[in-house]
Amino acid sequence: MKNNVKIGASLACANYRHLEKDIRELEQAGVDYIHFDIMDGHFVPNFCLNIDILKMVRDLTSLPVDVHLMVDNPEFFIPIFSQAGCDILSFQQEVAYHPQRELSNIRKFGVKSGIALNPSTPLNVLDYLLPDLDMIMIMTVNPGFAGQKLIPAMIKKIENLRTMLEKRELQIEIQVDGNVNFENIPTLVKAGATMLVGGTSSVFKKGMSISDAVRKMRSVIPG
Ligand code: DX5
Ligand code: ZN
Repeated sequence: MKNNVKIGASLACANYRHLEKDIRELEQAGVDYIHFDIMDGHFVPNFCLNIDILKMVRDLTSLPVDVHLMVDNPEFFIPIFSQAGCDILSFQQEVAYHPQRELSNIRKFGVKSGIALNPSTPLNVLDYLLPDLDMIMIMTVNPGFAGQKLIPAMIKKIENLRTMLEKRELQIEIQVDGNVNFENIPTLVKAGATMLVGGTSSVFKKGMSISDAVRKMRSVIPG
């Protein structure tokens, strides 16, 4: 793993006609984890994967699975997904009444805790959550749809987050999710990203095999 940067694959962008085949290709390509989006058609105007597919993926692979809850009322779903086999579980800060409690609940299940911030959500919402966090996700697009363009202001946001964590000497993963591609990976990593979510812009890029795409992602990671 170059520069300790992990490459994840956004399974919502895989080919649903042959998910198992794609998962085997992801394993052979050497991705570090699977990113598993859950959408409720409410917090985001879209749907994608679900709990039954998560349980199937858990049976299929030993790759770490990182579940991203883009749902209202995450407190209801945290126990359900924590016990369905994920290794990391993140929810959107914008819809949690009691994020500190939810993060500690995730850890009580032996799952790593994460929180996701929409592009317009300021970093200061994290001020009193840092001791409870294993991962912070910076959404680099507005959540809900693949194929969007990275919002340029997010680079500075990632840099500011890295500075915030370095000042406190905290080892918390910085995940970036949305339009992570071969051209912007160097900038994202230099800004401080340590976990990449590869979707249609990279891992599942049209016209490329998964292994070629992952190899190319690895090759452009600086350091
Ligand atoms: C956005 C999705 C992301 C990502 C998909 O809600 O959760 O996983 O945008 O990858 P791209 O942006 O490359 O299609
Ligand atoms: Zn996601």
